[in-house]
Amino acid sequence: MATTRTIRSVEVLRVTGGRRLTGSVTLPGAKNSVLKLMAATLLATGTSTITNVPDILDVEIMAELLRRLGCEVEHDKDRARVQITVPERPDHRADYDLVRRMRASICVLGPLVARVGAADVALPGGDNIGSRGLDMHVDGLRRMGAEVTSEHGYLLAQASERLTGAETWLDFPSVGATETILMAAVLADGTTVIDNAAREPEIIDICTMLQEMGAVIDGVGTSTLTIEGVASLHPVEHATVPDRIVAGTWAVAAVMTQGDVTVRHAHAQHLSIALEKLVTAGADVDILDDGFRVRMGRRPAAVDVVTLPYPGFPTDLQPQFIAMNSVAEGAALVTENLFEARFRFVQELARLGADVRTDGHHALVRGRRALSGAPVEATDIRAGAGLVLAGLVAEGTTTVYGVGHIDRGYAGLVPALVGLGADVERDLVTE
Ligand code: EPU
Repeated sequence: MATTRTIRSVEVLRVTGGRRLTGSVTLPGAKNSVLKLMAATLLATGTSTITNVPDILDVEIMAELLRRLGCEVEHDKDRARVQITVPERPDHRADYDLVRRMRASICVLGPLVARVGAADVALPGGDNIGSRGLDMHVDGLRRMGAEVTSEHGYLLAQASERLTGAETWLDFPSVGATETILMAAVLADGTTVIDNAAREPEIIDICTMLQEMGAVIDGVGTSTLTIEGVASLHPVEHATVPDRIVAGTWAVAAVMTQGDVTVRHAHAQHLSIALEKLVTAGADVDILDDGFRVRMGRRPAAVDVVTLPYPGFPTDLQPQFIAMNSVAEGAALVTENLFEARFRFVQELARLGADVRTDGHHALVRGRRALSGAPVEATDIRAGAGLVLAGLVAEGTTTVYGVGHIDRGYAGLVPALVGLGADVERDLVTE
């Protein structure tokens, strides 16, 4: 039998190592905030505007999801704004084809149940109701009176009447569960308390936007949020908080390349632990009015990190720190407490010659003087960032596959890197 072979082109990043990064970059808004802010617009009929919107693929996916729910969405990339017009009664189904492309689609669950009393949201891959991943979202909605089931790969939530405020406790300060319960509670009847709530800057950002829309929320930025439900909310204009993970990625890039990078439009206080770690590694960090400057004059010293919910060290910077430790002087122990699967990227880093051993939640990284460029595959956004950073210091050229993952979180990465003096380009290869 004849077989056919399809040849297709895929994008790669070619990173040639050895350049010091110097100059300045301006941060975009945070991916992990803007998607939730866009979902939150569902809570009010009319036109809301989100500004400081990063030009990333996930924003496009969220825009498409909102359009399918009946909203009009205009994305003005030049002005970094998204305008969303929400109808009186949005639709309530989030299909698998979008949810599989972006797990964060789950953030429409809370607003839809609160607003239209129903939500059918495809389950993100690998999860099932009550399993690790969504159990706290579901538990919170049930406490407020929603019926939640799972059928044919969809999570079905229904509330025949307005949701009722309730006391909720999270087993773990989950970002997503805090957001789901918060966005449901703002329109519920009565008081909701979320104990052990997440405290990430992105949670503060969404609380602020909800307050601007007329929500009554107490304890913003603490681990106990108290929400007095109101009958309706109104549309707003809100600016997305700057992306602290992109900021941290630039800071590590400066250290690894022994460079001098100023990150503008950053809130350094959102990165305190990560910046302290870079100081321990030997960097000079100056806090500026609108950001910070990182300078490094020598090979970094290895630093241990332990990921924890905010204000702990962010899991989203763990691969970047493993990359840094892989060329540092000495050895470091990196402990991952949120997403164990994040160590998968270590196998790719090993292709560049990194010496990393993992055991459960721990990775032991022994620094090497040099890495050597090779083809590698990014398996998620932050793994992609870690591999690009490693490529910046590896000898020769590193070809990074899986660019789509990087594009989901890093707006304009290549021009920004080139602007700082890196030798990086996008290329097409056939496979
Ligand atoms: N978890 C449960 N049950 C739940 C909810 C969460 O077991 O009901 C578990 C998860 O399985 C995971 C841990 O708790 O092991 C953390 O989950 P969390 O809900 O805090 O994270 P998330 O909302 O799914 C967001 C970011 C992640 C970031 C984490 C932690 C978005 C879209 N994603 O995820 O960002 O790592 O918080 O800060 O906001 C990234 O940007 O690369 C990324 C993965």
